[in-house]
Amino acid sequence: MRKQLFDVLGAALMVLALMIPVSGRSQESSLAATPPMGWNSWNRFACKVSDTVVRAAADAIVSSGMKSAGYVYVNVDDCWQGKRDAQGMIQGNEKFPDMKGLGDYIHSKGLKFGIYSSPGPKTCAGFEGSYKHEQQDAQQYAAWGVDYLKYDWCSAGQVYKPEEMQDVYKKMHEALVSTGRPIVFSLCQYGLRRVWEWGPSVGANLWRTTGDVWANYDRIYSIAHAEDGIEPYAGPGHWNDPDMLEVGNGRMSHDENVSHMSMWCMLSAPLLAGNDLANMMPETLAILTNPEVIAVDQDPKGVQAHWAWQVGPYEPWAKPLADGSTAVLLINRGEDTEPITVQFKDVGVSGTKSVRDLWAHKDLGQFTDSFKADVRAHGVVMVKLH
Ligand code: GLA
Repeated sequence: MRKQLFDVLGAALMVLALMIPVSGRSQESSLAATPPMGWNSWNRFACKVSDTVVRAAADAIVSSGMKSAGYVYVNVDDCWQGKRDAQGMIQGNEKFPDMKGLGDYIHSKGLKFGIYSSPGPKTCAGFEGSYKHEQQDAQQYAAWGVDYLKYDWCSAGQVYKPEEMQDVYKKMHEALVSTGRPIVFSLCQYGLRRVWEWGPSVGANLWRTTGDVWANYDRIYSIAHAEDGIEPYAGPGHWNDPDMLEVGNGRMSHDENVSHMSMWCMLSAPLLAGNDLANMMPETLAILTNPEVIAVDQDPKGVQAHWAWQVGPYEPWAKPLADGSTAVLLINRGEDTEPITVQFKDVGVSGTKSVRDLWAHKDLGQFTDSFKADVRAHGVVMVKLH
């Protein structure tokens, strides 16, 4: 009798839960539980992207071992959009003749499919945006098997007031939720209106914090530095996004690429490789797939590193990890190799710690109260204190 009562109550609760309007439910809490990892076409290909380029990237993610290292999203950025059909449904352009087929291909490799649009009438590169077609676009993306949407403000400023921005993003979130397909929602509006304060409330899983990255050490550092002070807003399901990776692009030195990857992992940033995966140097692949460094990014505690201090071009960052250890990054932005000493108390630890170098995969021994290392120009030393 009692059991029957519980069964009836249980069923009634289930029905009630299903009746809660979708807008009141957050996107699956398991979405982006750790920062999303994958590849995005923009940094390397911009509008030279095509179905062929994207399939080659999907092939290379698997064959290079990047998939095994955790990279799963294959994201087409701007420039895929064609015209709308008679019903108003968006189609791919001549370089993307079969979006459903592309999604199927990506999924057949055990990967996930990402796409890009704007709430404005046009995207940043002048292609068709989602303005007045939000519901239809969400439906179309779901029908294509899309798993990730980057939604870029671009021309939306021409049709909306700045104070409407939250509603505009929420509208697409609700459209995505209504499809029933879990789709990671990535906001791109360059950090306007302190997006980190309201991103989660409009369903965002991540939000860009600045303007665009480019393959230059100073630019990369300044983007990272712009996240100083907004650490508390990052966490499982909702991340500050300092933009996609430039590792392997442009003319950055090995140390600069290692610094870039280290900073992003310390910041719990999404790791979206932005290089040509089908033609990358072994050195680039090694930087992108270092398992001990990626583990810092993907740590389930999801704490974004904070600046312990900064003296001239020298600074240590600290990131507490789920197992009780702390990752520490020593950064040298100067032009010469320099010893940097970090006091344990400045990074929230005390006593004697074992120190492991995460790039060298080497235990460095036990240290009491402080740790010191020589750091090369534009380089880093990344360690774990445990
Ligand atoms: C903006 C975004 C970039 C990229 C381009 C595409 O500049 O910030 O990341 O998506 O648009 O046009």
